[in-house]
Amino acid sequence: MRALPSTGPWRGGVVAGALLAAVAAPGAAGAVSPRAVHTLTRVTPAGPASVLLSSTADAAVVATRARAARCARRAPVVLTVRVDGAAVGQVRLHSSRWRALRFHGPVGPGDHRVRVTATGRRGCAAATLDELRLTPATQPGDDEGHATPRGPLRAIPVNAAARAELALGSDQRLQDTFLSHFDGLTPENEMKMGIVEPSPGTFAFRQADALVDYAQRHGKSVRGHTLIWQSQLPGWLTRRRWSRADMLAVMHQWIGAIVGRYRGRIADWDVLNELFDAAGDWRPSPWYVAIGPDLADAALRAAHDADPAARLFINDFDIERPGPKQDAVFALVRDLRLRGVPIDGVGIQAHWSIGDLVPEQMLLTTLRRFASLGVRVELTELDVMTDHQPDALLRQAAAYAMAGRVCQAVAACDRVTVWGISDRDSWRGAANRALLFDTDFLEKPAYAALRDALAAT
Ligand code: XIL
Repeated sequence: MRALPSTGPWRGGVVAGALLAAVAAPGAAGAVSPRAVHTLTRVTPAGPASVLLSSTADAAVVATRARAARCARRAPVVLTVRVDGAAVGQVRLHSSRWRALRFHGPVGPGDHRVRVTATGRRGCAAATLDELRLTPATQPGDDEGHATPRGPLRAIPVNAAARAELALGSDQRLQDTFLSHFDGLTPENEMKMGIVEPSPGTFAFRQADALVDYAQRHGKSVRGHTLIWQSQLPGWLTRRRWSRADMLAVMHQWIGAIVGRYRGRIADWDVLNELFDAAGDWRPSPWYVAIGPDLADAALRAAHDADPAARLFINDFDIERPGPKQDAVFALVRDLRLRGVPIDGVGIQAHWSIGDLVPEQMLLTTLRRFASLGVRVELTELDVMTDHQPDALLRQAAAYAMAGRVCQAVAACDRVTVWGISDRDSWRGAANRALLFDTDFLEKPAYAALRDALAAT
């Protein structure tokens, strides 16, 4: 647990709710109601927390961090929060990991009686609160900058990129790890044009079919990846210059063939991949050079025609932070939506490094910004390269947990995909240890951290 602030009369060990009520009772000689209780407070059915807290804000909310007793995974604890007798929120805790919570009153300035009660199965219905406080309602997140979901937590699926070997090989550890830990897959390379259309109009679907069949046999979803990209293209396409009309014909044949083949079986497609450079300008891909910016319309309409039920995404990296590249993706999606071109989601690839993580509030703002366009937002290729400090895997776990919390906090985020199953096969190299399982397929701390953040209450 992080260090508590060293100020305030409340610092110390776990105190019972009753004791807390006594020390914070109104009218005690010279007592000034605190803004926050800087101590761990245990809450049980017999011992609710009850404290008088003051606020100067026009509108404040109750915030705290909380964790449940160890048995909570089987028997969740329900916390109910009241301000001056009126219920302002309820949450189910199912984990002994700390969770940041906010309960929207809002409450006005002055002193307020904040009462937190715990209910649940006998013996398990205990929770510990940290930093119970009134905090201005306008302040995003809590004072650690954590993303805090509104409403109950959803069960958000975790997928992984997979290679043909998963379906065509016989590596039992690889298969067991995938089947028992992931909800679906993205073919890492097997649906890219360089593999699937090796010569014009000739299609090689063996590896892609194998992955789709394997996933379906085991009840796993498939994300299609990726239709229009500047990389991993066949030589016949990159070697010559194309007229606009010929390139549009190539595009229609390609997208029609692959999306049509999996019509009704692949619900989500990365149609547009990495369209913009860091300055927000269009990359000079063969598609762009021949067709120009309306390649986006053409590709999306072709995919929609081939499978009208499929959800169509634009996908890119380095769009977590505000800047010209994020603005370019945002402007394109807004324009497509305004003109009624089918676009359903933005994929944030999320290839991260432990030494250069996007701040949580910034990522949250980014997801909300894209979601404001009425589209889904997914983290589509998450991985976190580590360094070699002794605590690297724990810091990596914290980064994965952060990604999960942000997704939880934004209703439009309904899946996280990590870019590979184990460090053995990561495209970032095994030494960078970027994924959730190590080179021996042993679970790393990051797996539970991500799953926990994405679990339902
Ligand atoms: C990567 C694969 O993981 C590698 O195996 C391959 O050699 C190159 O492509 N952005 C994307 C993915 O959209 O398709 C890329 O996948 C990683 C970056």
